[in-house]
Amino acid sequence: MQVLVLNGSPKGGLSVTMQYVKYLARRLPDFRAEIANVAQRARHLEGNPAARSELAARIGSADAVLWATPLYILLVPSQFKRFIDTAHADPALREALRGKSTGSLTTSIKFFDHCAHDYLHGLADELEMRYLGDYSARMNDLTVKTERERLTAFGRRFLAEAAAEVPLPRQHPPLPVVDFRYTPGESVNKLDTTGRRVVVLTDGRPDDHNLNAMVGRFAAALESVEVYNLHELDIKGGCLGCCSCGFSYTCAYEGKDDYTRFYNEVVKKADVLVFAGSIRARQLSWVWRRFIDRSFFNCHTPTLMDKQFGFLVSGPLGALPGMRHLYRGWIELQRGNLVDFVSDDVADSAALDARIDGLARRLVENARAHYVRPQTFLGYAGMKVFRDDLFAGLKMVFQADHKTYKRRGYYDFPHKKRSQRFQAAILTLLTKLPPIRREFPRRLKTEMVKPLRKVLAAEEV
Ligand SMILES: Cc1cc2nc3c(=O)[nH]c(=O)nc-3n(C[C@H](O)[C@H](O)[C@H](O)COP(=O)(O)O)c2cc1C
Repeated sequence: MQVLVLNGSPKGGLSVTMQYVKYLARRLPDFRAEIANVAQRARHLEGNPAARSELAARIGSADAVLWATPLYILLVPSQFKRFIDTAHADPALREALRGKSTGSLTTSIKFFDHCAHDYLHGLADELEMRYLGDYSARMNDLTVKTERERLTAFGRRFLAEAAAEVPLPRQHPPLPVVDFRYTPGESVNKLDTTGRRVVVLTDGRPDDHNLNAMVGRFAAALESVEVYNLHELDIKGGCLGCCSCGFSYTCAYEGKDDYTRFYNEVVKKADVLVFAGSIRARQLSWVWRRFIDRSFFNCHTPTLMDKQFGFLVSGPLGALPGMRHLYRGWIELQRGNLVDFVSDDVADSAALDARIDGLARRLVENARAHYVRPQTFLGYAGMKVFRDDLFAGLKMVFQADHKTYKRRGYYDFPHKKRSQRFQAAILTLLTKLPPIRREFPRRLKTEMVKPLRKVLAAEEV
């Protein structure tokens, strides 16, 4: 079976992910992989209709298509997203992909890998492809025999399911079309922003009417706001995955473009950050993703602590829970506070005015109160994954992270909690005694609330 592999890595042939694809081709003679380096060639494909027709023909003659990609910041690399945005908007590529059997294969440290797979699944559903399943490998799984067997089993299942050609259920419903034109009403009072820096980042192009109008409305609601357009910033390219930032947070583009200066001087120094963008191919555009990927020069270190975040999104955001989930996770990892998303899918100008004004007010009030809600599983568990992976070996590549994690106390390993462990060991021993074992369930509820009741008692007036 001829499998056209859409390579999402900006590293092309030197990609870790491609070693998994090549392994499948070696192990399974029927897995005839043809690799298309679409992430590396994304700019060329975007601007060159002939190159797109050629790719459409290659897709057309393949029996199946595999999206194979690394994870970059909870999703796919911006270069791959650029290709996806191009394919999504190109009738010939869409037609070539329609009806093809497909699946997604990622390599990563399994950090929010479910987000990338869910994204690619949704994309495949929207493009009316037959999505057969996903495979998420840790970077070095290929060196482990049982994982090689698992990968081979995936390859076999993929070939068998692709050959079966039976219809498959669609997991992601069709997206509603947002075709309403936003006309902002008269703005009322401007909110006092004294002492707070509010920064809006937008990827609005001149014809993104609703997005630009939403940004305009937001800016009109505040006394002082800085608006930056990502298209106008000096950003020479996407993250190359070279990890040269690992030693001292120094990006390979340092001195070649303005990204790190902008990030350090504007983004890091803001109190309120608003991300404004139109949905392209079920996510923020590749231009937005490039901006986010490039923040990887900070490696795995949170840099946007205590900032208030809001989103102004043009497009069917309500039907894309995966996108909201991803940014909630990313902001929690940054230890910031996600206030809300506002989208024009409300399809009513007065209601949109009220929501934008409300978002502006809540952002400023939260910033004044220095309120950051507690992390959920996303940020809480996520930091533990970073902590363990860094400590276990990644600290060699990411030495700057390692120093910061030590300094900030992010290495909060359970084995360091000595008194807690000692107490648990003694109590465990005591529960071996039959009378204590019998008494234990009776006392558990009271014991659990005891320390909390002490706090309550201290609060009593
Ligand atoms: C900029 C950047 C961002 C990354 N973000 C993630 C991430 O969010 N989640 C994850 O599990 N791995 C992440 N990784 C790790 C890569 O996904 C992993 O190294 C992958 O195997 C690289 O594959 P490739 O060589 O095919 O490009 C990131 C790596 C880089 C360079």
